[in-house]
Amino acid sequence: MDHQFRTIIEPFRIHSVEPLRMTTASEREVAIRAAGYNLFSLRAEDVLIDLLTDSGTGAMSRDQWAAIQHGDESYAGSPSWFRFEAAVKDLFPFRHIIPTHQGRAAEKILFTALGGPGKVVPNNTHFDTTRANVEASGADAVDLVIEEGHDPALDHPFKGNMDLAALERVLEERGRDVPVVMLTVTNNSGGGQPVSLENIRGVSEICHRYGIPFFLDACRFAENAWFIHEREPGQGEREVADIVREMASLADGMTMSAKKDPFGNIGGWLALNDDALAESCRNLLILTEGFPTYGGLAGRDLEALAQGLSEAVHHDYLRYRIRSTAYLGEALRDAGVPVVWPIGGHAVYLDAKALLPHIDPLAYPGQALSVALYELGGVRSVEIGTVMFGRHPDGSEQPAAMELVRLAIPRRTYTQSHIDYVIEVVTAVAERAESLRGYRMVHEPPALRHFTARFEPLL
Ligand code: F0G
Repeated sequence: MDHQFRTIIEPFRIHSVEPLRMTTASEREVAIRAAGYNLFSLRAEDVLIDLLTDSGTGAMSRDQWAAIQHGDESYAGSPSWFRFEAAVKDLFPFRHIIPTHQGRAAEKILFTALGGPGKVVPNNTHFDTTRANVEASGADAVDLVIEEGHDPALDHPFKGNMDLAALERVLEERGRDVPVVMLTVTNNSGGGQPVSLENIRGVSEICHRYGIPFFLDACRFAENAWFIHEREPGQGEREVADIVREMASLADGMTMSAKKDPFGNIGGWLALNDDALAESCRNLLILTEGFPTYGGLAGRDLEALAQGLSEAVHHDYLRYRIRSTAYLGEALRDAGVPVVWPIGGHAVYLDAKALLPHIDPLAYPGQALSVALYELGGVRSVEIGTVMFGRHPDGSEQPAAMELVRLAIPRRTYTQSHIDYVIEVVTAVAERAESLRGYRMVHEPPALRHFTARFEPLL
């Protein structure tokens, strides 16, 4: 019988290292002021621990670097393409695989083909680029996550689930205007929370009853499948790869950012079964991304992704990945910091509304917390709240449903001592929460404003 040890170790050792640049608090104050108090505008060299995103920021494996050497850069029909296509179809057996340079390019193509004024696209929660691409086509994006998904503190094993009754109502009333139903696994904007297999089955059944295509936004499919393996009755004995195949079999297609679970620094795809839709998507692909056997990618990228996909579903990796994210979240919760509960897969989400009740939502409490984490400890996070979601297509500004600050964990990149440092920084900022002040937006771009907005602190 194996002894059960408490410490979850990284299931790898380090093979090549990157230096981190130490900065002082006064250097960081200058840097963040110059960046207009927007963490996206910092130079990455001025960041010590970069938890801005888990997208494209992970470490590639020895075997991925080796695969890159096999990259064949033929314009059409490269062997690297066929390896990539086979690896994708092994987990996601859709008829058509359309490679793109990243997830939003797949979204742009899909919603150009299917969206348009008067249309409605339901999702559990649209990610920001997904919402922006739906809205750019003239369609409405509606979020239908279950009620529990709106309460940061409430415990629920599958807080990313779609509200099936609400979906049914939308399809009943507006079914003719719904070109596709999306489901984001895991639900990034709602706390990185998983969706159960039972819920995926439910969404699939409803969509097919109304004759509406059902697509997964599947960036974090492996993390979602691990949660199903761990939490869903009857799923604990299954291979994660097998759960992933069942998730795919319930859908008619998917969009993918391969910068997440497939361990890519770049990449994505659109996959689907419908031949006519695939043809119009391929025609759009050729206009902006490239020929259908490389999309927006180099042959070497296709190789790295094919290898990455096989690593993403290893149980030892996923056990470490999900436990190490929980390690950060549980330590913060034990220290009295309000976090979205339970802890999600790729990130810990701080509840800025609960931590900073004295800051009005329109003075951006999440932004205030994010800036403070950088100023005090050089940790970069991202606001997921009113800065990101507050501006509406009708021009109004309204508080977002939640004011979160996401600490996203790049895959296989930071060690436990880096995370222990982050715990110290967040705890120290939380201890001085009452002294934090809100912000005013002084420059606002027309779409996806959080990327390039500029702010000034309120006195
Ligand atoms: N869908 C989800 C759920 C995402 O999290 C992302 C990206 C995308 C689509 C778009 O993919 O970046 O490759 O174009 N999320 C990153 C993040 C940027 O930080 O959460 P992309």
